[in-house]
Order: sequence, then structure tokens, then C-alpha cells
Amino acid sequence: MKYIKLLFIVLTGLFLVACDDGPKGSFGFTLPDGNAEYGQQYFVEFRCVDCHTVVGLEDELVAPFGIDPIMNVPLGGATHRIETYGELVTSIINPSHKVSSQYKMTPDTGDGQSVMRNYNSIMTVDELIDIVAFVQDQYTLKPYPPTTYKIY
Ligand code: HEC
Repeated sequence: MKYIKLLFIVLTGLFLVACDDGPKGSFGFTLPDGNAEYGQQYFVEFRCVDCHTVVGLEDELVAPFGIDPIMNVPLGGATHRIETYGELVTSIINPSHKVSSQYKMTPDTGDGQSVMRNYNSIMTVDELIDIVAFVQDQYTLKPYPPTTYKIY
């Protein structure tokens, strides 16, 4: 009986960790709705297009601006790499949280850091919100229940 109780406690703990619900978890994180149209413009202005193609928008994003891409990491569609809104936002503000060995550059960063540029000190939060709205539209993400804001 004691062991069953212990097993229950351990499993509950694991469940909580898996739910990302601890003090450092992302539960409750919600950005306001962004403007996907502006987001598309920022996507070009910040030169995300140097490294990313967007499924279905290849001609629209690169050709008119005469951009010569340096690599091709496709964004959008149904992928197992990005399944939730949280993963999408994280991949923009913390690119090194998951580094793909598929995309190597010369010179290699060599230290497990992503080759993706870090935009955190140049991108405003408003711009981030709009870019997320644009990129999110390109993915088949798991439905995200946004926080309902209540006066308390
Ligand atoms: C210098 C190249 C480069 C630039 C510029 C760049 N990225 Fe990335 N990005 C990458 C690479 C490489 C990855 C794959 C993960 C890794 O190895 O870091 C990635 C991953 C991502 C992912 C996760 C996709 C996945 O399938 O894993 C998103 C979303 C993303 N980038 C968005 C952006 C946005 C938005 C911008 C512009 C604000 C941008 N990136 C600019 C190189 C770049």
C-alpha cells in the first residue's frame, strides 16, 4: 500500500513537470493578438527570409526584394518541431533552446548555439507579436486556448 502511495506521488510529480506547470513553466503565457500583415513585412525587414522559406509564399517573400538567401529552413505546414504556440514564440526569442544539426554554417558556431540571429535587443515586443501572428498562420499548430483576461 505504501508503495502504491509513493508511486502515485511520483507519477503526480511527473505529470506536473510534464504539464510545464511549475514556477518556471509557461502556463498562462499569452501574447495579445498580432497583425499578421505587418508581421509579414517585419519578416522581410528583419531578414528572416535570409534563412527561412515559408511554405506557399516563396515567390512573395524573396523575389520582389532581390534577397539572396544564405540557407533554407522551411517554416510552416504541419511539423513535429513546432507544435504549439509556446514553442513558436520560444524559437524566436530563444533560438538556441533547440538547435538542429541539419543546419550548419561556416564558420560553425561550435558551441551548441543556434546560427539564427538573436533579435532580442532590436525587435520590439509589438514587432514580435506581429511576426508571431504571421508565422503562426503558416503552421498547423495545436489549438491554443488563450488566457481570458478578467478584471480581478
Ligand atoms: C542566419 C539564419 C537565420 C535567421 C536570419 C533567422 N533564422 Fe530562424 N532559424 C534558423 C535556423 C538554423 C533554425 C533551426 C533551429 C536551429 O538550428 O537553431 C531556425 C529556426 C526557427 C524557427 C523554428 C522552426 C523549426 O522548424 O525548428 C522559427 C519559428 C524561426 N526560426 C523564426 C525566425 C524568425 C521569425 C526570424 C526573423 C525575425 C528568423 N527565424 C531569422 C536560422 C535563422
